[in-house]
Amino acid sequence: MSISKAITKQRVIEHYLPATVIPVADSTDTLFAPSNIALCKYWGKRDAELNLPINSSLSISLAHLGSRTKISVCDSDQVWLNGSQIAANDKFAAKVIAFVDLFRRGADHCVKVETENNIPTAAGLASSASGFAALMLAVDRFYGLNLEPQVLSAFARMGSGSASRSLYEGFVEWQMGIREDGMDSVALPLDCRWDDLRIGLVKVSTAEKAVDSRSGMNRTVETAHLYQSWPLQAATDLERLHRAISDKNFTQLGETAEQNALSMHATMIASWPPLLYWQPDSVAAMQTIWQARADGVEVYFTMDAGPNIKLLFTADAEAAVKQRFPDLEVVAPFA
Ligand code: DP6
Repeated sequence: MSISKAITKQRVIEHYLPATVIPVADSTDTLFAPSNIALCKYWGKRDAELNLPINSSLSISLAHLGSRTKISVCDSDQVWLNGSQIAANDKFAAKVIAFVDLFRRGADHCVKVETENNIPTAAGLASSASGFAALMLAVDRFYGLNLEPQVLSAFARMGSGSASRSLYEGFVEWQMGIREDGMDSVALPLDCRWDDLRIGLVKVSTAEKAVDSRSGMNRTVETAHLYQSWPLQAATDLERLHRAISDKNFTQLGETAEQNALSMHATMIASWPPLLYWQPDSVAAMQTIWQARADGVEVYFTMDAGPNIKLLFTADAEAAVKQRFPDLEVVAPFA
């Protein structure tokens, strides 16, 4: 496809849509998308308008934890979250309506967007990935677009990069792509199950972060010299994760994910002004994990742009891990 100069989300999307969209009369289905946690992180963009990443990433989806979204026709634009209507001037509502507008393009109807997140807010997990993925699925259904999975992934990515991976269950790779319009920057599921793999959610804080991941990654790319080494780290880790998954080598999976997360955080700490999402309790949790490993319990962690810790372990270690983290919320991603 050829899209001329100044590529915008709107121009990329328009290319795939009919001239006008009309709501499908009976499209009141609720669509679900799972939340996901990256084992090899997406950190840094080559294009901020389209959320095109500097590196490929690999995640695991959180099964039943995620977002459910329904769109219906209404006499005014409304956004509802977990049963409550959100003020139209709220940042969240504005983002949701702006995303719908990319598809509506001025067509003469208003929408009611209803979203339920069942991600435990106590775990402080970001919901933008599952939120934009579920919203994309709901838009597709509402306008009867029947877009291909890869197109859905590319469009969800324009809402939030990590949403590209939330269209699938299990292990998912988001390939960075090289095209200017980003239509090859899409996620694909890996054909592999790992039934006894477990994810543990350790709550450190649920307070809203002072710097969100979008601004955090921009600041890192712009100011941290250390960021130069990130693309190579990510490429190496991606390879190692692929091997670990196909060999079911949990040690390699855990070590790689933990080192990848700490490398990403090293680039944040090296930016200016410095970005440190860790709190004393995050460091205490890391020390508990390292002590558990020294005691023979195989548990690793990963962290995103926030203070909360996500544990990786296998079913046989669950009791020992819970002993050290009594409030742990455990997810079986392939259940
Ligand atoms: C640290 O997908 O939230 O969680 O594309 O700007 O919306 P935007 O960023 P977002 O960033 C996620 C960053 C991360 C790593 C990851 O999920 O891969």
